[in-house]
Amino acid sequence: MDLTQYIESKRDAHLNELFEFLRIPSVSTKSEHRADIGRAARWVEDKLRGAGMQQTEIIPTKIHPLVYGESLQAPGKPTVLFYGHYDVQPAEPLDLWTSPAFEPTVRNGNLYGRGTADDKGQVHIHLKAMESLLKAAGRLPINIKALIEGEEEVGSENLWDFVVQNKSRLKADALVVSDTSMLAPGVPSITYGLRGLNYYQIEITGPAQDLHSGVFGGAVPNPLAILSELFARLHDKNFRVTVPGFYNGVATLSTTERKALNSLPWQEKEFRKTVGAPGLCGEKGYTIVEQVWCRPTLELNGIWGGYTGEGSKTVIPSKAYAKFSTRLVPNQDPDKVTRAVEKHIRKLLPKTVTCKFSLLSTGKPWVAPYTHPFFEVAHNALEKGFGKRAVFIREGGSIPFVTQMHDTFKVPCILLGFGLPDENAHAPDEHIALENYFGGIKAIAHFYQGLSGLG
Ligand code: BES
Ligand code: MN
Ligand code: MN
Repeated sequence: MDLTQYIESKRDAHLNELFEFLRIPSVSTKSEHRADIGRAARWVEDKLRGAGMQQTEIIPTKIHPLVYGESLQAPGKPTVLFYGHYDVQPAEPLDLWTSPAFEPTVRNGNLYGRGTADDKGQVHIHLKAMESLLKAAGRLPINIKALIEGEEEVGSENLWDFVVQNKSRLKADALVVSDTSMLAPGVPSITYGLRGLNYYQIEITGPAQDLHSGVFGGAVPNPLAILSELFARLHDKNFRVTVPGFYNGVATLSTTERKALNSLPWQEKEFRKTVGAPGLCGEKGYTIVEQVWCRPTLELNGIWGGYTGEGSKTVIPSKAYAKFSTRLVPNQDPDKVTRAVEKHIRKLLPKTVTCKFSLLSTGKPWVAPYTHPFFEVAHNALEKGFGKRAVFIREGGSIPFVTQMHDTFKVPCILLGFGLPDENAHAPDEHIALENYFGGIKAIAHFYQGLSGLG
């Protein structure tokens, strides 16, 4: 039986095994899921062994463990480092799921459940591709190191320390990641750029304690109103960020790249449908594709304070809070952006309040050429898996680890994503298209197989 036939014959077994993985609620933000995180890590380690890794290890960190495995039995052949994450975002709001988040369910050709697309389903694609290669040929055709972390959704805080302390052990000819999306259904894609991300929180304090709004209202600062005005002033009428220096260093897009990105088989109609808002807005002078992939932004993620319970309560709150973030593009410097944002906010706030400013996480943008011979192998492998030529895209999401690896190890980073932009990652009814899950296993198996031809 050849590789493709073998993979075809295992469809049900692969899917049922993925169900097991998805049933473990490995939510990394919540301490109540600590045991589930541990179970998910052990599950991954077990599957790495089944996929032919002779050395495997669960490495504890300050928060959630890393799972590492390696198979180095192909002397003279390339070595890849595969990276993914087994942790998931919280499933709330639970009542908006059509079927429960941790009870994987197939409907209309899609598999629904938290982690199906981001990123358990995609990690499983690699596990089953490796296992299929092992079963079909008796051994893995290349050297593979696998690093699957449990803190990606909370900022990968401890991952980098481990990498720096284990540089020689993790050395590879390329980094391979499946934690991104395809451009559209039926359009296999290779991602060559991601935005960076700085995440901030501010706490605004006015009165020393909550005040009766009848007794004090009219004469005292209201932190919630001040916070609202602050955020209203962070964009101008062209949806440009008003922070002085924010656009410093932003690389201009070449005419060639603009042309290539804007002629991809991307459909504005589909984008509008996915968004589902009555209209769109974005930075003037750029197409939607450029706005979401290539331009920096500032987004308000959450704002709270005061009374939000049932009925009414006449109060002037002492404090107001906001969480917000900036997506970054080459060649913005995340530290400089943080300083510029903090400075501008402090300048805009009136003297009637104080402000605590914190940076919760930071990650650099990444864009890289796709000229290394491994990309050619990836391109051909995607064609074997999907029967179509792949396109090269950038994306707006962030995977800080990719930039760190690229900068430190100077290796090509090959991002082969099998999600789709409308699959509700981080939201209720997250799903993955079964054809992309199965196509992904075939493509990745052919990719690893193809790399052995370069040895
Ligand atoms: N898989 C995503 C990143 C992603 C999403 C890349 C869509 C490309 C397209 C990853 O799990 C994620 O959610 N990243 C976070 C940042 C992280 C530091 C929490 C993000 O992009 O918001
Ligand atoms: Mn992810
Ligand atoms: Mn995610």
